[in-house]
Amino acid sequence: MNTIISASVLNSDMSALGQELRRAENAGADWIHLDVMDGVFVDCITFGDYMIRALRPHSAIVFDTHLMVRDPSKLIVSFAKSGSDIITIHEESKCDHLSILKEIRSFGIKAGIAINPETPAERVFPYLEEVDMVLVMTVNPGYGGQGFIKETLPKITLIRNEAERRGLSELNIQVDGGINANTANAVKEAGANVLVAGTYLFKSSDMAEAVRELKVINN
Ligand code: DX5
Ligand code: ZN
Repeated sequence: MNTIISASVLNSDMSALGQELRRAENAGADWIHLDVMDGVFVDCITFGDYMIRALRPHSAIVFDTHLMVRDPSKLIVSFAKSGSDIITIHEESKCDHLSILKEIRSFGIKAGIAINPETPAERVFPYLEEVDMVLVMTVNPGYGGQGFIKETLPKITLIRNEAERRGLSELNIQVDGGINANTANAVKEAGANVLVAGTYLFKSSDMAEAVRELKVINN
């Protein structure tokens, strides 16, 4: 599988998000990763569907929306209509996951399920047929710029193997947190094909080179 790079704008210049997402696109990022935090599921509040709707005209790039919210049940309609191409909900959120994943797909967009570092891989198994992507958090959610938790690597492999066993060869496995040129190799070897990178891309002096590095390592 080709490696997909999803640029997280969390640690970009948030006062100029439209420009920042074009900068990532011009550097070769495939998707833009939009971290929505509600101040309950995690301690911070970032932005919501209004912001995503405002960003949509700035680029046609894939909008990869990561919902770190306590209960996404009432949010799917507005986030789908805001222009998200993928919406990922957390297994740890309090909701009826199966019906929400179906609702996301009913808008013709892709659905994802995420697990935090301490959540066992098996917890996403009931949803594998209902999702286009599994997000394995490689840091605890809430902040950019944290160190990669290497104990998450076996979970990526467990999920990839289970997907293969079920004939789900198209399943995207995304990793999020602490991804850089030193950690990209290990997550790809473990079975991930979508790499979220925030700090590494937005704080690099040459973003295009940084994107290339993440893509080519181990390819
Ligand atoms: C963390 C977010 C990540 C974060 C990754 O809660 O979900 O998307 O922006 O940032 P880096 O790449 O800096 O670890
Ligand atoms: Zn994220």
